[in-house]
Amino acid sequence: MKTVTLIPGDGIGLEIVESVKEIFAAAKAPIIWDTQIIGKTAFEQTGQLIPDALIESIKKNGIGLKGPAETPIGKGFKSVNVQLRQLFDLYANVRPCQTIEGVESRYENVDLVIFRENTEGLYSGLDYYDERLQIADTISRITVAGSKRILAAAFEYAHQNKRKKVTLVHKANILKQSGKILLDAGHEAAARYPHIEFEDKIIDNMSMQLVRNPERFDVIVTSNLFGDILSDLCAGLVGGLGVVSGANIGEEVAIFEAVHGTAPDIAGKGIANPTALLRSAVMMLFHLEYTEIAQKIDQALIKTLKQKELCTGDLGGNANTKTFTQNVINHL
Ligand code: NAI
Repeated sequence: MKTVTLIPGDGIGLEIVESVKEIFAAAKAPIIWDTQIIGKTAFEQTGQLIPDALIESIKKNGIGLKGPAETPIGKGFKSVNVQLRQLFDLYANVRPCQTIEGVESRYENVDLVIFRENTEGLYSGLDYYDERLQIADTISRITVAGSKRILAAAFEYAHQNKRKKVTLVHKANILKQSGKILLDAGHEAAARYPHIEFEDKIIDNMSMQLVRNPERFDVIVTSNLFGDILSDLCAGLVGGLGVVSGANIGEEVAIFEAVHGTAPDIAGKGIANPTALLRSAVMMLFHLEYTEIAQKIDQALIKTLKQKELCTGDLGGNANTKTFTQNVINHL
């Protein structure tokens, strides 16, 4: 048995976490949940956005599963998602994006993995407003060490998973200093893996190419902001935000979470698709080397997704979160 810190988060997070718990219980997954609060709810109850109890729990367990947490837009507190990633130095945000049989999409053979640098760039927190001059400066800090380690992680993943190509996405034509750091780190890592093809692309061109020919890409590595945006774009290539999973990986800690947010437009209606969080939870089981149980849950999910009528509304089906959950359990 392994204890995992469970952070339901806000909005649909509360609904989809229940779904994962039910499916894990039905599959007899050897996981004990240590549930912790974060963000606005945590602040109201403890006076802390990231309570000490949550930090202690993650330190102790080393593994977390997290639902989405709300961030006020254009005002208010700094994203607790970003804070958590920086606090535990979860530098690699790994987001696989594959065509799923049965899930409608315009493309057939998408099979790519995004490595988003998760602690630097425009999310470094260097965000200032000068009241007198009425100027805002948001600094994108890129470090040599940070760039080397995300490139190393992407290449090592490609090597371990027999992937053929790594594409580094940047804006080095305009952002010359930070772009050069990333490109240098890319070439340096590529030299250590001569059997893996390496290319680099400028973000604007990459966005167009991904929409036209996503099947040409394999492992994509990029900075924080570009990775954030491309992740949602890639979700759109394979059926939407309801189906794509993710992991925040560091040296000591790993926290698994879906790409999507709290979906305020559907929160509380009981219709959210739990697939993305469930797939993140399956990634977690693989990470913990509970391979058999991970495959069992994954197969049940794949069988469910093949039958459109058993799926939630975002995938064109008739199920709500609860009935979808039951459909997956029936396939276990
Ligand atoms: P969002 O990802 O919450 O929603 C975008 C669209 O996708 C909405 O139409 C939503 O209904 C749909 N959607 C998302 N997940 C779905 C699911 N599981 N099933 C069915 N439909 C789904 O993005 P939005 O609206 O821009 O952000 C809302 C809030 O979430 C913000 O406060 C934002 O900061 C936060 N957020 C948190 C993240 C995290 O905790 N890792 C990641 C992204 C956003």
